[in-house]
Amino acid sequence: MTISKYLPSAFLSAVLVASVFGGSRMSAQRPLAASPLRAAMFVVDSAKLYTEAQAAEGAKVWTATCAGCHESKDVTSADFKTKWVGRSLFELYEQIRTTMPDDAPGTLTRDQYLTSVAYILKLNGLPAGETALMPDSATLSTLKFALPAPPSPSPFAP
Ligand code: HEC
Repeated sequence: MTISKYLPSAFLSAVLVASVFGGSRMSAQRPLAASPLRAAMFVVDSAKLYTEAQAAEGAKVWTATCAGCHESKDVTSADFKTKWVGRSLFELYEQIRTTMPDDAPGTLTRDQYLTSVAYILKLNGLPAGETALMPDSATLSTLKFALPAPPSPSPFAP
């Protein structure tokens, strides 16, 4: 029967695409999404760029300082993503450091700015890891803001 013959090879090629692009970082639950290509395009992203502790600190900064003006959707919306995805974390960090809080730019510590970036990564669904994000421009410049693979779309989604 064709189905039983072709399904396994479709499965294998999806796994192949996922492993070529994602390596071991790719989550086992995600790669077999309906479109392997789409999954592959978003893969870089699963890099673990910050620690959970940094995100927790960033959440405090956010609540104490940013939340007075921002809702979290300000840093997760489609508009935000269109603007920032694909750019370096240094650009995002610098933008926040030099313009925020809007009424007193530059008044937080570097670490507060850095942890707010970590928190923004978390809000966007990027996973925490063992290695801390460092506030050094050379490293931050090499790190791209890339999105995590979207959750497997429901087969019933339009
Ligand atoms: C006093 C109000 C206020 C505070 C406090 C504030 N912001 Fe903002 N923020 C704004 C306004 C207004 C804008 C949009 C105008 C602009 O880009 O300058 C903005 C824009 C941004 C953007 C750019 C969004 C985009 O779509 O590009 C980011 C990121 C951001 N803020 C992060 C933060 C973070 C992180 C904090 C806390 C450390 C913070 N803001 C605190 C008012 C504020």
